[in-house]
Parts: sequence; C-alpha cells; structure tokens
Amino acid sequence: MIRSCLHVFGVCIVAFCLVTEGGSVSASCKTIGCGGHDPKSTCFCAPSCFSFDDCCDDYAEVCPEQTPTVKLGDVNMLITTDLHSWIEGRPHDAHLNASLAHVVSVLDHLRSIAYAQSRDVFFFDNGDINDGTGLSATAPDHVAFLSPVLQTVRYDALNIGNHELYQRNGHGIVEGPACPVVGLKESGYIASWEGRYLTSNVVWSSSHEPVGNRYTMIEGKFGTKLLVFGFLYNMHDHCDAVEVLDVEDVLASQWFKEAVQAHAQVCDGVVVLAHMDYRDELVDKIWTALRTGMGSSKPIQVVAGHSHRRGFRHIKAIRFYNVWPEVYEAGCKLDTVGFLSYSREGNRLRFELANISGNINQLAGAVNRSVSNFSTAAGARTAQAIQTARDKAGSDRVLGCAAQRYRLMTPPGKNSLWSFYMQEVLPETLLDSAKSQIAIVGTGAMTYDIFPGPVTIDDAYTASPYGNFWLKLEGIKGESLIKLMMELNHPTPWTQVVPSYVNSSAPIASSTYDLVFCDFDLDPIVERLQGMLGKHLEPKLYKPLLNTSSVLSAWFQQRPCSDESILL
Ligand SMILES: *[C@@H]1O[C@H](CO)[C@@H](O)[C@H](O)[C@H]1NC(C)=O
Ligand SMILES: *[C@@H]1O[C@H](CO)[C@@H](O)[C@H](O)[C@H]1NC(C)=O
Ligand SMILES: *[C@@H]1O[C@H](CO)[C@@H](O)[C@H](O)[C@H]1NC(C)=O
Ligand SMILES: *[C@@H]1O[C@H](CO)[C@@H](O)[C@H](O)[C@H]1NC(C)=O
Ligand SMILES: *[C@@H]1O[C@H](CO)[C@@H](O)[C@H](O)[C@H]1NC(C)=O
Ligand SMILES: *[C@@H]1O[C@H](CO)[C@@H](O)[C@H](O)[C@H]1NC(C)=O
Ligand SMILES: [Zn+2]
Repeated sequence: MIRSCLHVFGVCIVAFCLVTEGGSVSASCKTIGCGGHDPKSTCFCAPSCFSFDDCCDDYAEVCPEQTPTVKLGDVNMLITTDLHSWIEGRPHDAHLNASLAHVVSVLDHLRSIAYAQSRDVFFFDNGDINDGTGLSATAPDHVAFLSPVLQTVRYDALNIGNHELYQRNGHGIVEGPACPVVGLKESGYIASWEGRYLTSNVVWSSSHEPVGNRYTMIEGKFGTKLLVFGFLYNMHDHCDAVEVLDVEDVLASQWFKEAVQAHAQVCDGVVVLAHMDYRDELVDKIWTALRTGMGSSKPIQVVAGHSHRRGFRHIKAIRFYNVWPEVYEAGCKLDTVGFLSYSREGNRLRFELANISGNINQLAGAVNRSVSNFSTAAGARTAQAIQTARDKAGSDRVLGCAAQRYRLMTPPGKNSLWSFYMQEVLPETLLDSAKSQIAIVGTGAMTYDIFPGPVTIDDAYTASPYGNFWLKLEGIKGESLIKLMMELNHPTPWTQVVPSYVNSSAPIASSTYDLVFCDFDLDPIVERLQGMLGKHLEPKLYKPLLNTSSVLSAWFQQRPCSDESILL
C-alpha cells in the first residue's frame, strides 16, 4: 500500500487501536479481547498489518490460534502478497516468526499431499516485494539483495506492486538508481521468470512494451490450465521508467479481448493477480469483463493486495456462484499465507479458504507436520538465500542501543517513535539549528517500533524503510508554517492516533524558518505553501548524503551499547 495510510472511501485511516492517556497503548488482550483477526473488531493497526502486538503485548499468550484446516480441492493456490521484504521472520514479533523458507516448505508438503490425489497446487505472489526491512533499503535500488531470494521460490506467477514503481532519485536530483523495476529488469530478474512475471497494465515508457508479460497460461502437473493476469491499480505517481495504463483502458483494448477469446475454450479457470484493495471497484470491472468474455461457468478468481488486510468479498452483480468469494486478500508482510481451493460439484463450485498466520507452528500444522519434520530441502535453500542476503545487507550489525521501546502507534509523548524522531533524532542528525529550521514529515514514513536493547541495521530500517531524501525551502514565515500544519492535518479522522504530519518544533508566527521535508511529501507541502503564498517555490536538495532512514541509523551510531546490553 502507499505508506501507512489506508485510503478507505477517500479517508485516511491509520489505526483502530485502543489508546490510553499518557501515550501508551492498552497493554493487555485480556482486557481488550483478541479481535478474532478481524479488522472490524477490537484491535487492528494498519501499519504493521496484522500484528496484534501493536495493540496488546500479550497477544500470543492470551489469544492462542487454532491451526487452520487446509482442505484441498481440484485446484489449489497458495498466495503471498505485499511481502515488503518481510521474509526473514520477525525477531520482535514472536508470534510471526516464520520466514519465506517456511512457506516454501509448506508448498512442498502441500504439493506432495495434493499430487498423491492427482490435484494441482499453484503458488502466486501479488507484488510489493520491497520496502520494509534492511534487506530492501540497504540495496541502492531496494531490490538487488531481495530478488535472488525470491528466485529460489518456485512461484507459478508473480505480479508487480506500486512499491516496485516509486521514483527513487527525484528524477535525477540525487544520485542512485531511478526506480526498483529498472533494477529488476537489468539484473535479469524479470526475464528469469520466463514470462510469468505479469504486468497487464504496466509498460516501459520508452518502448510501450509491457514490463513483464501481459498474461500467461500456466499448466499444473495434472493438466489444470489457468489463464493468469497481473493488474496494478490506476497508479499515477509512478516512476518515469514506466507508464501505468488505466485498468479500464486495458479491459477495452484489443489484446485483452483477444487473449480472453483465444483462451476461453482452452483454460480451466482464470486467476487475476490484482495489486489493489479487495474492496476496490476496479476488481469488479476486471471480473465483469472476464465473466463476459469467458461465459457464465468458468471459475474466475481475483487475488487482491495493497490494503494489507485479510479479507474477501463477493462480486455483487453476479449471483451465479453464490458460494464463490471472488476476491481474496491475504494480509501482508508474511503475517498471512493465503490458501484457496475450489472443486466442481455438479454445476456449482465448492470453495475453501484458509488464512495461515506467519508462524512456524501454524504453517507446519496447516500441512499436518510438526516443526521437527517440516523443513524441506527447497525450504533450506531459501533459508540459505535469505542468510546470504542478510549478510550482504549487514542486517545483523548492531548500530547502538535503545534505552526504551519507541512505539509507532501511540500519540505524541515519551513512548512515541514519532516524538523521538522529530524532537531528538532530526535536531541532532539533520537540522543545523533547531531554532531556525523546522522539519515536517508525513507519518507514513515509519512503519514499525524500535525495541529496547541493541538496535541493528535491520531494526533501523524496519522502523524507517523508505530512505527518502531531504529538501529545504528557505525563508518561510512561522505564520505560514502554523497554517500549513493545520491544513496538512485537516480533517483528521477520529480513528487516527498519530497525526498525518508532524513537526520538529513549534513555529513562532513572527519568525522566519528553513522548512525541511522529504521528497515523498513534496507535493502536499509545496502545493499548499504555493497556494498560501501565491508564488512559485523551488525547494533545494538538503544534505544529500542523508535520508529518512539514515538519520535514524546515524542517531543510534552515536549511542553505543554498554557491555551488558550487548550480552542481552
Ligand atoms: C515460533 O512461535 C511459536 C509460538 O507462536 C513457538 O512455539 C515456536 O517455538 C517459535 N519458533 C521459533 C523457531 O522461534
Ligand atoms: C480469513 O480472514 C478474513 C478476514 O479476517 C475472514 O473474513 C475470513 O473468515 C477468514 N477465513 C477463514 C477461513 O478463516
Ligand atoms: C490435515 O489433516 C486434517 C485432518 O485429518 C485434514 O482435514 C486436512 O485436510 C489435512 N491437511 C492437508 C493439507 O491435507
Ligand atoms: C511428523 O512428526 C509428527 C510428530 O513427531 C508425527 O506425528 C507425524 O507422523 C510426522 N509426519 C511425517 C509425515 O513423518
Ligand atoms: C540513505 O543514506 C545512507 C547514508 O548516506 C545511504 O547509505 C543509503 O544508501 C541511503 N538510502 C537511500 C535509499 O538512498
Ligand atoms: C508543531 O506545530 C504546532 C503549531 O503549528 C505546535 O502547536 C506544535 O506544538 C508543534 N509540535 C511540536 C512537537 O513542537
Ligand atoms: Zn503494500
């Protein structure tokens, strides 16, 4: 998704946490309940997706999960989406300790069980592979360390996400690779999938050729033929290297109609990898276009993403398969491995679904294994690739020590990661004079807590994964900054614990400041100021060797651990 903000019906919803006064989060699931892993219930925090640990630290003890029952059907699918480089297992979320290597083991076991019954199992990834941990951010293009790990995983098809398509170099303002997708091409990653890296509506802007394949037909060991597309929502803020075509235009295009027509008779079903919210109306448009072309009985499954939630829904207009949840989304950041199956029963389809939590016991249990006989040879190869990537990224290198936990989802105050970042980290590492410079940062820039004790490269980058560079506007009046902050944070939905934008200090109306901000926030900040001041503003690059991630590492590098904390 786009930073931490969930845009639901035009409103940015950041969290539904129960928050107590004094800036700390309600501490116990005993009092607030377990939430049933349901966004609508007691506790759900969007930025770290499905981690209940944001809401109550005792989630794992108080809310033990039932191992999901995986019911194989005629056609079976295992799904990851929005991995955001969280493929290593989470040292600070004991409950989410599984890595992508464990998912590979699940795939192996599922295939061997299914093959014994002559059934096919397919494995899909739905995009947003990068931007989340040190494994991504320490590579200049954000994908160079990550992509060799994904190449060890035998995905049947993969989709592209918006995070593969952000401009990283400010169109040449700063040095470095322009866009992650360029790295994926130049390293041979896209080609290595031999036509199964899908981009139905993303083309290179230079040639107008599709970045991957527009679609593919995959065939399982037992002959199941699936026609697979890979759509991205109508993303407008993409990098210069590509164009993202509006989904509606693609559905009306000649190639799409021909592809549907050419395969309507030969495929057994259609899978749409859709990097868009499962509630997005584009999903309905794609589904309807396919239903029209494919006739009334062909199974059409949409695998959604981007909202970072678990969820499914039916397509309203169609009643033919009333047991068919046409759209399914499998959480994010490996908090969930999705499973879907369907079987024909007469002229109906019987459908099964499982949300498998990213926990080693849950994953092993889902394929009727115990932890001791769970890991497979292919899983071990992926584990080895993850270790190699972590070594390249220097993920385990200790930068310094944190004296306390800094929480992302908590109001400004002593425990708040945002208060710490704005009032301690930036004044010390970035701002020349905390008196005459004020920083404003959009709170999508950080995504995870900092925990007490040693802080590694990986910890710093999971807290602040995006590495956006800094810009400066000189000579801005305090009164304009006060007005700007009000506009940026207005209207604030009641559910929001942390304001949309935060500032490093309080501007005095009559004083004049340098305003410092990061490139991700350029448009909202500069457009508002220009409107307010009635003139064109030209921000300058500020401290090009620093960025929104490196300031945090720099701060901890000045805070060496005492001997005891290293031993901890
Ligand atoms: C993973 O978490 C489960 C509890 O949720 C625990 O039983 C298991 O020992 C953990 N495994 C590892 C390797 O940390
Ligand atoms: C999967 O998660 C979604 C969202 O929480 C939920 O609605 C659905 O019932 C879950 N499915 C199963 C089989 O648990
Ligand atoms: C695991 O065993 C249970 C109970 O026998 C069964 O319902 C389930 O389908 C099995 N899982 C798989 C993946 O075969
Ligand atoms: C895996 O180990 C468990 C517990 O030791 C055992 O019950 C199960 O039969 C084993 N499965 C296989 C396929 O070896
Ligand atoms: C952020 O800055 C650090 C320190 O200069 C640099 O090593 C890193 O590559 C930068 N990250 C990005 C994404 O530019
Ligand atoms: C941010 O600016 C507002 C005024 O616009 C001020 O009320 C607030 O105290 C400032 N925040 C901090 C942390 O100084
Ligand atoms: Zn995402």
